[in-house]
Amino acid sequence: MAAHGHHHGHGESAAFDFAEAAPRFRARADAETGRYRRLAQALAGPGTRVAADIGCGAASMAFALAETVPGVRVTAVDAEPAMLDLVAERAAERGTPMATALASVDDPDALAAAVGAPADLLWAGHVVHHAADPQAALGNLAALLAPGGRLAIGEGGTAPQFLPANLGTGRPGLELRLIEAGARRLADELAEHGGTPLVHGWNVALEHAGLTEVRTIDELVAKPAPLTGADLDHALDALATRVGWFDRYLTDEDRHTWTRLLDPAGPDWLGHRRDLHHLAIDTVYTAVRPA
Ligand SMILES: C[S@@+](CC[C@H](N)C(=O)[O-])C[C@H]1O[C@@H](n2cnc3c(N)ncnc32)[C@H](O)[C@@H]1O
Repeated sequence: MAAHGHHHGHGESAAFDFAEAAPRFRARADAETGRYRRLAQALAGPGTRVAADIGCGAASMAFALAETVPGVRVTAVDAEPAMLDLVAERAAERGTPMATALASVDDPDALAAAVGAPADLLWAGHVVHHAADPQAALGNLAALLAPGGRLAIGEGGTAPQFLPANLGTGRPGLELRLIEAGARRLADELAEHGGTPLVHGWNVALEHAGLTEVRTIDELVAKPAPLTGADLDHALDALATRVGWFDRYLTDEDRHTWTRLLDPAGPDWLGHRRDLHHLAIDTVYTAVRPA
């Protein structure tokens, strides 16, 4: 599993190419079914009739809602046509019909047309931080809620970590520098969009969008070393993907270290190690439109 991405066609743009990522989203989606069903149960109430999954990717939340909340009408919304094709494929495979619509969180009119009615529940997983103006995007979402409706965003939390602090090769702190490289790429993406960075945390941003009852759900992902099987494959894939994405933000020294660690034919391949773990905190913020 070599570090791909040295020549992956992003050119000089820091913007993420989500169409390119669609096959990875596909590969990961079925493994997430249980987790999203639990989350859907925690977020939806008996009165949840109109819901949407914004920036849906493989639409794990849209399917979880459609398959666990009786009578709900869900729309899967994404700015990337390739993701909506993926959602249509998954809908056919699962036998769960799914309405899809193309819209950006940056475009209030397109978003309103996509959601179609005052919403009881809007989910936006790991997408608002990609908006040109995240605060404005939260405002766009809040405006689509029915009075008493709930917005839930998967944001914040921690980046996943898989490696021991010192690998015995390369400079210690390699994985922390990869996470930091990701933060710099995201800042560049925002600047490229002419965007406005948030200057406070998501709880405050939700309040600024006119919402109340802000709450946080923190879910711990903790798989102890040694990782094996699908967990090890996921760790290697997640690391290779990030190294590809953040390539330009790495020092030459770190890039070379990653190339050795991700080379299955080399002596330093991470897949041979017994000390990889998976630690992360997934955070969901929820807030309600005042009645
Ligand atoms: C990191 S993925 C998250 C996918 C899924 N919600 C999840 O949590 O796994 C971001 C998704 O948002 C979409 N996206 C990126 N920018 C967007 C925007 N401005 N408006 C709507 N969707 C966007 C991408 O195409 C991609 O499917």
